[in-house]
Amino acid sequence: MEPKTDFWRTAAQDLDGLPGDLGLNIAHEAVDRHVARGAGERDALRFVDRRGVVRAFTYAELSKQSSAFANVLIGLGVRPGDRVFALAPRTPELYIAALGALKARAVFSVLFASFGPEPIRVRLLKAGVKVLVAEDTLYQRKVAQNRHAIPSLRHVLSLGALVPGSLSFARLLGAARDGYAIAPTHPDEPALIHFTSGTTGAPKAAVHVHRAVIGHYATARLALALAPGDVYWCTADPGWVTGVSYGLIAPLVCGVTSIVDQGEFDAERWYRIIEQEQVSVLYTSPTAIRMLMRAGPELAARFNLRSLRVVASVGEPLHADAVQWARATLGVPIHDTWWQTETGAIMIANLPGRDVIPGAMGRPLPGVEAHVVRRREEGGTLHLDRIEGADVSGELALIPSWPSMFRDYHDEPERYAQAFCDGLYLTGDLVRRDAGGAFRFLGRADEVIKSAGHLIGPFEIESALLAHPAVAEAGVIGKPHAVSGEVTKAFVTLKPGFEASDSLRRQLIGHARKRLGPALAPRELAFADSLPHTKSGKIMRRVLRAHELGLPLGDLSASDAADGAEPDATEPPSVQST
Ligand code: PRX
Repeated sequence: MEPKTDFWRTAAQDLDGLPGDLGLNIAHEAVDRHVARGAGERDALRFVDRRGVVRAFTYAELSKQSSAFANVLIGLGVRPGDRVFALAPRTPELYIAALGALKARAVFSVLFASFGPEPIRVRLLKAGVKVLVAEDTLYQRKVAQNRHAIPSLRHVLSLGALVPGSLSFARLLGAARDGYAIAPTHPDEPALIHFTSGTTGAPKAAVHVHRAVIGHYATARLALALAPGDVYWCTADPGWVTGVSYGLIAPLVCGVTSIVDQGEFDAERWYRIIEQEQVSVLYTSPTAIRMLMRAGPELAARFNLRSLRVVASVGEPLHADAVQWARATLGVPIHDTWWQTETGAIMIANLPGRDVIPGAMGRPLPGVEAHVVRRREEGGTLHLDRIEGADVSGELALIPSWPSMFRDYHDEPERYAQAFCDGLYLTGDLVRRDAGGAFRFLGRADEVIKSAGHLIGPFEIESALLAHPAVAEAGVIGKPHAVSGEVTKAFVTLKPGFEASDSLRRQLIGHARKRLGPALAPRELAFADSLPHTKSGKIMRRVLRAHELGLPLGDLSASDAADGAEPDATEPPSVQST
């Protein structure tokens, strides 16, 4: 069998590296390389604004403007490894800032614009951010009040109006030279941070390196079939990993024209964009597909969607009925792909050009070795048993040998180390592998929530609820939802002197929304007299979830054991419906 690393090595040969053999930099491969090869006049990005007006940026323009921004950052004293973050809607400046930061060898990240002040504060603080590029109104609403509590934050570059304590992004960019020779960049230098959540503790800042560009390139070529000439649309927001890996880096490295929709989801708008822009490759989420399905086939029939060559999805289970719907309505099936923030790129997929296995995520890419494992504790040490054979289920674990694998959780080496065991990376996903080697998704081994494709950590929501004077305890779960996959539901107990009521419920949801923003705030909230605990005092979210689903409690013992929690049989949940 061909060694797994050959797949990546071959892909790397298509990339140029920095001129003069000075290393590998994502921004060079994404933009400058195409300009050097004479493709500078090709459209790199086409922004479709809310009214449908298109503004295109060529590779040459993007190269110049990102160079200017690299000069701005160097002028501000940014050094390699410094964190430069953005908080902005899907504007050209966001993309220019990303590429400029990468050229300056800063570590870049995007904060999701729908986050509230608290998740933004936590992330800025955790990463020790030095420069923040922020839209003026988002800054005023979400950062200004906490700026004093983020001592590392030296410069705020404002997009739009100048806000107190900020510099003008536009003015600085306009005054900077638009030529920039990227300094030697080691392929294993940090380039990106993507935040992700676990069951417990604050969000994790997964660190990715410049070498990841090989993974973005190779997987986009194979699993999305991207090739020059394609008009490609990744519908994910850059505030999430898909929007950066496959909305920004991969399409540019592949030299295609990429659509950035500045509007919100609207089925008619989406079909119109596909028709008008002649989109050939669409990468989206099962939630979006379900919303298109709900809009009905008549709407789709009003548009010419024949430009679509490949449609792929990621982030949540793609059910077989969605694949059939797409065949009938879009004229092509949907290719499911599986990956995670940590893996940085697609690991498992139903590849274009091969038969789609409806209901399955597909097979590991040629460069990926995937195993089904069970965790076993021996003498206080964790071991993994690999489960061979067909139709076996267990946790998905991968041999970490691909270029876009994360290299650290920023400042949390122990948490990073816990993600590995016996030479394997533990994904936390439960899967079944069939006789043909295809993987099916069964669920999570932990209690993270997937809502509309976004990974949400219950701890972050519980912490926000606990900050309200009425709340004694809080447990948050994902409740199944027909369109979003899951929605967040909170169970709270109240402190003495507070009474459950509709008005208090609204108050608590409002309190959470103000702190967390609409993307993270709980959608539903129930009051409880008590919450179920393990013997060590942890709230058993699985029991709450089972209660929500109407499952007998006996069904929970196996999964609790897997978590290392000790269920306390003497303490049943006592949840009110108010
Ligand atoms: O549980 C899996 C689910 O999304 C998780 C990763 O989420 P995140 O790190 O936010 O990255 C999202 C974009 C890659 C996985 O652990 N997931 C991802 N792809 C699929 C999936 N669940 C089912 N089917 C998929 N194709």
